[in-house]
Amino acid sequence: MSLLRKEWMAREPDFPWLEAGDVAGLESVLGELGWLKPGERVRSAECAGEGNMNLTLRVITSERSFVLKQARPWVEKYPEIAAPWERSCVEQAFYARVAEFPAVADRMPHIFGQSESARIIVMEDFVDARDLTSLYKGDHLDDEELHILASYLRALHVATEDSPTPPLENREMRALNHEHIYVVPLDSENGLELDGYEPGLEDAARRLQADEEFRAAVASTGERYLADARHLVHGDYFPGSWLRTAGGIRIIDPEFAFFGDPELDVACATAHLALAGRPRADAERLIDVYASGTGAPVLDAARLARYAAIEVVRRLIGVAQLPIAATRGERAALLARARNAMLGARHEALWP
Ligand SMILES: Nc1ncnc2c1ncn2[C@@H]1O[C@H](COP(=O)(O)OP(=O)(O)OP(=O)(O)O)[C@@H](O)[C@H]1O
Ligand SMILES: [Mg+2]
Repeated sequence: MSLLRKEWMAREPDFPWLEAGDVAGLESVLGELGWLKPGERVRSAECAGEGNMNLTLRVITSERSFVLKQARPWVEKYPEIAAPWERSCVEQAFYARVAEFPAVADRMPHIFGQSESARIIVMEDFVDARDLTSLYKGDHLDDEELHILASYLRALHVATEDSPTPPLENREMRALNHEHIYVVPLDSENGLELDGYEPGLEDAARRLQADEEFRAAVASTGERYLADARHLVHGDYFPGSWLRTAGGIRIIDPEFAFFGDPELDVACATAHLALAGRPRADAERLIDVYASGTGAPVLDAARLARYAAIEVVRRLIGVAQLPIAATRGERAALLARARNAMLGARHEALWP
């Protein structure tokens, strides 16, 4: 057990620390929270899917199944790395905030129970769901799916235009993300070994890291990311947060949400379509559908392009790598296009 984890568990002995497989512990915690029906027994609790940050379990009881997500003050996959514990409160506040808007809430899991003190969310289990990281392996979105992804975002942004209030300022998660997106990828001393993804990628990263014009554009985009704005954004709108279910696409995991620029979410989706090798037409369709609906915020094209460009860069030469097969030259070529997209402030430049 990591030291960090041990220390926290000793410091907070009354916190309901949960684990996969701990059926008795789960039954007692869920019972205390009043979330089990009379006579309902917990049968199993195994990992719900690929995730890094949190403990995410599929709980099967004598009557039903649900997904339970608990945040701890560390990264679940790397328990020696600390992570903001309040992220669960942000995720809970997000679900509470959008609950009254069917165009948003109906595209997300229904929430059965939330506890801020236990940092637990219990939600609908999309039993048959597959996340769309399959896009990085040649899968594609059909037109209806692109439509859903765009209309969900528009509905979210339109419904939530407001001023930031805690916990939806989400400062700690934003600071963490800022470091991973805007700082680490451009740090030539970051120690990341990139040539395993593509021979020569390390050299390409060095060149970009030495590019002062590019660094300045990234720094100002990063400042913008840290500034408050007026729309509730999902904050991590990429294929890992998109589930394909029999009922259509569903969106999960708003732990990086905050009141920011609506361009951020549209840009993130755009960046990942480029990273997945999808045609530019997919991104244009997404942007068009977003913009054509009633009340949609007018997107600043330059801001969208810059957010998209840095998302591409950080996924190619930063820590949070994607499950894209080893390449020969494609990553360096996309990295060069991302530089052009950043400096020209045109998302179109992400495509050849
Ligand atoms: N409501 C749900 N129904 C079905 N499966 C789910 C549900 N919520 C989460 N999962 C599964 O659990 C995985 C992890 O969930 P989630 O992304 O919310 O956790 P996380 O710890 O925040 O992950 P990450 O580190 O990627 O941010 C998902 O990729 C999915 O496979
Ligand atoms: Mg997450």
